[in-house]
Amino acid sequence: MELLIVDDYEALGRAGADWMAAALAAKPDATIVVATGDTPMGVYRELAARRARGLLETTHLRVFQLDAYLGLAPDDRRSLYGWMYRSFIEPLGIPEVNVVRLPGDASDPGAVCAAYDSAVRCAGGFDLSILGLGPNGHLGFNEPPSPPDAPTRIVDLTPESIASNARYWGGTDQVPRRALTCGMDLLLAARRTLLVVSGAHKRDILYRVVRGPVTPDIPASYLQTAPHVTVLADRAAWGD
Ligand code: GLP
Repeated sequence: MELLIVDDYEALGRAGADWMAAALAAKPDATIVVATGDTPMGVYRELAARRARGLLETTHLRVFQLDAYLGLAPDDRRSLYGWMYRSFIEPLGIPEVNVVRLPGDASDPGAVCAAYDSAVRCAGGFDLSILGLGPNGHLGFNEPPSPPDAPTRIVDLTPESIASNARYWGGTDQVPRRALTCGMDLLLAARRTLLVVSGAHKRDILYRVVRGPVTPDIPASYLQTAPHVTVLADRAAWGD
């Protein structure tokens, strides 16, 4: 696990884009799973700016959705696919045929999870993974406790995740209580992972993820056991 500490959120965006540029240079048609949430948005904006200046070719990426609320209609403003589309897929010019959704509105969500697992395996697994860190140590919506072999599945959100996601949608009552998440097994097998973390409110949990015991109670701590993980944090999240 490599720890990369930068001064602030702006520098985090640049460093994340550098990581991605190096990965794309090695494999332009990489498979990638990408998080929504506030933290990676600076990275995505920097990637879009570099692409607009002709510095980066992102259109061959094959993108997998990380997580989805259960039961939302596709045009619901809270759809995490919609957020990923606006922040990553569209600005990076990725054709929709290169995108694999995790459709939370499917009539048989269990079948959709199994199909997603097969699609990732058929694609050879994830080359790249860009993740954020939940305040309770979750990855995607792999809520604690999540063992390392947890597959893609339906999960009940913890009160902590409901509370922290309320800010995106204007109140806790707006946050759906259940979700689909890409499994721990697929995330931990990604060939390269970038975990982006920003802000003093993540300091305690980040320390436990990086230095604490590896435990299902902090799912992100399993990244200590995964190949080629870069933890990219600003000083507020890590300290000096
Ligand atoms: C949500 C998402 C995660 C995200 C996390 C952190 O719960 N399911 O994928 O990484 O929150 O979000 P933020 O970056 O806004 O702190």
